[in-house]
Amino acid sequence: MKFSLLPLLLAPLASAHFHLEYPISRGFDEDTMPNFPCGGMSQSSNRTQLPISGSFPVALSMGHIQSAVEVLIALGSEPGDSYNITLVPTFQVNGLGAFCLPHVDFSEALLGVNITDGMNATVQVQTNGDPSGGLYACADVQFSSSVTYSEPSSCKNNTNVAASAFPSSSAQRNANESTAEGAAQGSSGSSTTSASTSKGAAVALQTAAWGVLGAAFAGGLAVL
Ligand SMILES: *[C@@H]1O[C@H](CO)[C@@H](O)[C@H](O)[C@H]1NC(C)=O
Ligand SMILES: *[C@@H]1O[C@H](CO)[C@@H](O)[C@H](O)[C@H]1NC(C)=O
Ligand SMILES: *[C@@H]1O[C@H](CO)[C@@H](O)[C@H](O)[C@H]1NC(C)=O
Ligand SMILES: *[C@@H]1O[C@H](CO)[C@@H](O)[C@H](O)[C@H]1NC(C)=O
Ligand SMILES: *[C@@H]1O[C@H](CO)[C@@H](O)[C@H](O)[C@H]1NC(C)=O
Ligand SMILES: *[C@@H]1O[C@H](CO)[C@@H](O)[C@H](O)[C@H]1NC(C)=O
Repeated sequence: MKFSLLPLLLAPLASAHFHLEYPISRGFDEDTMPNFPCGGMSQSSNRTQLPISGSFPVALSMGHIQSAVEVLIALGSEPGDSYNITLVPTFQVNGLGAFCLPHVDFSEALLGVNITDGMNATVQVQTNGDPSGGLYACADVQFSSSVTYSEPSSCKNNTNVAASAFPSSSAQRNANESTAEGAAQGSSGSSTTSASTSKGAAVALQTAAWGVLGAAFAGGLAVL
């Protein structure tokens, strides 16, 4: 389905989940996407080449009107299910279609190791499930000293797509254990912590990983 048609086709949206556009996804299967890890997709030998330092873009296409989103990485060629490094803590995306974080940081401070030429890793983007659990998409990558940062054409934000910071208590919860509003899954709902679209909430969100993106994030909110 062409994503540009999505706004016109309300019925299929509930099952449209999200697509990982960049780094290149292992694949997409709506039915297995709730399976941890990687939405049931097996490892690809076709790895997206990323620079060994700096940042890389994560481009998504959102199919749910509201999602909790988190970006994780597992280092190594055969990561199994050890997605134990959080690159971007859980935050909220509202609206359908293209959403891109142009500069996802992967510094030594986050990874605990220095990336060297030829190292492999797998990026996993996870969101809250529908209605429970998570939705998962992975991209196999290889860090290479022979490439530099480049932004794919898929790295853009659709007009009506906006991100909101969660309060830190919600940001620390994995997206697969969160509701789209940032509450714990399975809680009664009475203790819901909702995302705030105010600039104040974005400024207050100063977790280690988000700090780098924070400036761009606050900038994005400022134009709302
Ligand atoms: C990275 O993965 C590629 C293919 O997926 C493999 O050929 C290569 O040996 C791996 N590199 C390392 C350092 O394990
Ligand atoms: C490998 O990925 C590139 C994009 O990074 C894509 O253009 C190409 O078609 C893919 N090849 C295979 C065999 O999947
Ligand atoms: C993540 O998991 C891998 C594989 O189990 C392990 O080697 C590594 O030490 C873990 N890293 C962190 C930061 O927990
Ligand atoms: C949620 O995601 C984390 C990080 O990927 C993972 O370790 C955990 O097992 C997942 N939880 C469930 C219930 O699948
Ligand atoms: C990473 O590289 C820096 C600069 O060379 C070095 O100071 C640091 O100890 C290295 N970190 C690790 C975990 O190897
Ligand atoms: C999309 O919006 C997010 C959140 O406001 C922002 O951090 C990011 O830079 C935007 N992406 C692009 C490609 O402008």
